[in-house]
Parts: sequence; C-alpha cells; structure tokens
Amino acid sequence: MRKEIALITGASGGLGSEIAKQLQGFKTIILVGRNQEKLAEVAKEIKQIEQVVILQCDMSQRAEIEALAGQIIADYKQIDLLINNAGFGEFKYFSDFELDDIDQMFKVNVLGLIYLTRLLAVSMIKNKNGHIINIASMAGKIASSKSTIYSATKFAVIGFSNALRLELAPFGIFVTTVNPGPIATPFFDHSESDRAYLAQVQKLALKPEKVAQKIVDSVGYNKREINLPGYLECAARLYQLAPRIGDFLTAKVFNFK
Ligand SMILES: NC(=O)c1ccc[n+]([C@@H]2O[C@H](COP(=O)([O-])OP(=O)(O)OC[C@H]3O[C@@H](n4cnc5c(N)ncnc54)[C@H](OP(=O)(O)O)[C@@H]3O)[C@@H](O)[C@H]2O)c1
Repeated sequence: MRKEIALITGASGGLGSEIAKQLQGFKTIILVGRNQEKLAEVAKEIKQIEQVVILQCDMSQRAEIEALAGQIIADYKQIDLLINNAGFGEFKYFSDFELDDIDQMFKVNVLGLIYLTRLLAVSMIKNKNGHIINIASMAGKIASSKSTIYSATKFAVIGFSNALRLELAPFGIFVTTVNPGPIATPFFDHSESDRAYLAQVQKLALKPEKVAQKIVDSVGYNKREINLPGYLECAARLYQLAPRIGDFLTAKVFNFK
C-alpha cells in the first residue's frame, strides 16, 4: 500500500489523537475535528510525520464534509489511509431521547462516516490503493440497555463496513472495523450524566494508547476486524451463537449502564 497521506477524523482527543501520535511511515497526516485549538495541540506532539495538516469539520454537517473532501482531493488527489474515528455516545433510556439527539448521533457516527468514505473512496478505487479503518464498538456487537441509539449507530457502521469490504476488495483496498470495549477517554464526559457506567467499568477500561497501537499495527494489512479486549470478543461470539443467553447475561449480570 502507498503510504503518503493519512486522514483521521476525531483527531482532537481521545483515541483519534493517540492514533495520530503513533502513526508512522506517512508523509502527510490530516487531522480532522471541530476543535481547532485541540487539533493544534495534538499536531505539536506529532514529530514522526513530515507534514501535519489541520482541517476543521463538523461531521454532523453534510455540506462541511463535502467541502472537506473537495479540499482534500484538490490538494492531495487521493488519501491512502482513512481512519473514521469521530463519534460520540449517549447512554440513557430510549424513552428519554429527544428526536434531535437521535438525529445528531446518527449524523456523526453513521452518515458523516459514510459520506466522507463515499467521497474519498472514489479516488482510492481509481488508484487501486487504500485502507479504510472504521472505529465501531463492542456496542455494535452486543447491545445493552441504555445504549439503544449508540448501539444502533455502531451496528450500522459494522454492517456498512462488511459490505464495503466486499465491494472494495477487488481493487486491493482494505476495510477494517475496530470494536473496542470501554476505553479510558473523555468519551464518558458527554455520554452519561452520572458517570455510573464509567465508575463500574473503570478498572476494566482499555488504555487508548494500547487500542491505538493495535490500530496502527494493522495499517496496510488486510485485517477484517480488531476486537478488544479478548474476553469481550469471546462474549460477542457467544452472543451470536446463543442470543437468549446473551440477553440474559447482558440484562442481569453485566448491566453496568
Ligand atoms: N471511549 C470508549 O469507551 C469507546 C469504546 C468503543 C468505541 N469508541 C469509539 O471510538 C471513537 C473515538 O472516541 P473516543 O473514546 O476517543 O471519544 P472522545 O475522546 O470523546 O473523542 C471523540 C472525537 O470525536 C470528535 N467528534 C465528536 N463529535 C464530532 C462532530 N460532530 N464532528 C467532528 N468530530 C466530532 C471529537 O472532536 P471535536 O470535539 O474536535 O469535534 C473527538 O476528537 C468514537 O467513534 C467512539 O464511538 C469509544
């Protein structure tokens, strides 16, 4: 795989910034997010890549995504690595969701990801080169209470990626989905009002550096999925094989939200 230009969405913090700091071997890295100050801070810490570019984009706004993709194609012609990482979750009962909140989560986690991929994949197909890494979640494999909308967005990302992988394989383009369990990032600052879930899973939470390392190690390889940690990967397999047992365990034993 050609390794010249990489783009990471949600690069201003959390997992995205860790991936940006660890990624190696590319000439240019494009950091995308809404918060320019935070993007600039992350950029300062990237020493291993020659050119770091910051581009502001709200992934819930289709016009901004179109402008972003247009600028990238005009400036660079093609992206070699696209890491769709921007996303957020809100954990509360389904009946407490405002419809606008549901719209927003689907716009950022699903539609924004699909639009940007659609706009950038065309040049990958033309050049028969590229790797798309979509950050989904274990919540896209195992659904739990208070996670209806978030799980729905991540199931959508996995379904989209599974079909896309088949379509892009003949062009030599890889599609990898990353499905982590809880990661210790600022994600939980806006995902729940009482931080009860984070308190319950804090000890088990993955370190963002470790998740980022697995992702960076997969770049340029035809890896289907990265599932972390191992025990949740096993749980996800069990959930597929025995969904009723999975529902029981999720509702009665591992109901942390
Ligand atoms: N933390 C976890 O437990 C966990 C577990 C599994 C999967 N994930 C997934 O991992 C990814 C990264 O999450 P994280 O844990 O690193 O959370 P985080 O620390 O909250 O970072 C989320 C990133 O997404 C960006 N973002 C959010 N809304 C956006 C919008 N409307 N437009 C553009 N960018 C937006 C933020 O950038 P700006 O604020 O600058 O826009 C931020 O850089 C997400 O897709 C999340 O669903 C997280």
